[in-house]
Amino acid sequence: MARTLVVLVHPDLGASRVNAALAAGVRDLSNVTVHDLYAACPDLHIDVAREKRLLEEHDRVVLQFPFYWYSAPPLLKKWLDEVLERGWAYGPGGEALHGKRLQLVTAVGGQEELYRPDGLNRFPVRDLLSPFDATANLTGMRYEEPFVIHGSAYLDERELEQQVRRYRSLLQESMSIVA
Ligand SMILES: Cc1cc2nc3c(=O)[nH]c(=O)nc-3n(C[C@H](O)[C@H](O)[C@H](O)COP(=O)(O)O)c2cc1C
Repeated sequence: MARTLVVLVHPDLGASRVNAALAAGVRDLSNVTVHDLYAACPDLHIDVAREKRLLEEHDRVVLQFPFYWYSAPPLLKKWLDEVLERGWAYGPGGEALHGKRLQLVTAVGGQEELYRPDGLNRFPVRDLLSPFDATANLTGMRYEEPFVIHGSAYLDERELEQQVRRYRSLLQESMSIVA
């Protein structure tokens, strides 16, 4: 099974329902490391060497976060800016992430019908996440279809459990051929 790093990015995990349940549902998997980024970065200081080491030790990187302002919480942007250095993640000699898989997992407040060209938010979440697709491309990672949970506030307990089971099986999938 792919050694999987879940970078969990939630600024208030104590108040989270969906991301907290998802993380709790995969934490015991032997191939999975759950890395709570806000907890690991007091004062928002990122230990770049530690983050690189974690990335190097895993084959698949999952970025899990609540969808905020059509994107991810700010610490994830800071993490990308600081950790994905030229010469390491891209550019000459920058091959550390080559062949790894990038899987986004996000809980979105709005229902799917709001994320259509004729809906309130105009763009599908898949399209709004395209900077991550471009980042995967630049760093030689394989971008997987994002795992998007819509209408997070409306999920009842049974639906939430179903999503947790789906997430768990996604992370248990045996590793397919790495480019
Ligand atoms: C600062 C902030 C920004 C948000 N922006 C969006 C948004 O752009 N689109 C949306 O559908 N929901 C948005 N939401 C709702 C969150 O996506 C929702 O609270 C989240 O999926 C719940 O996940 P959790 O239970 O893990 O906290 C936002 C919530 C907050 C607090």
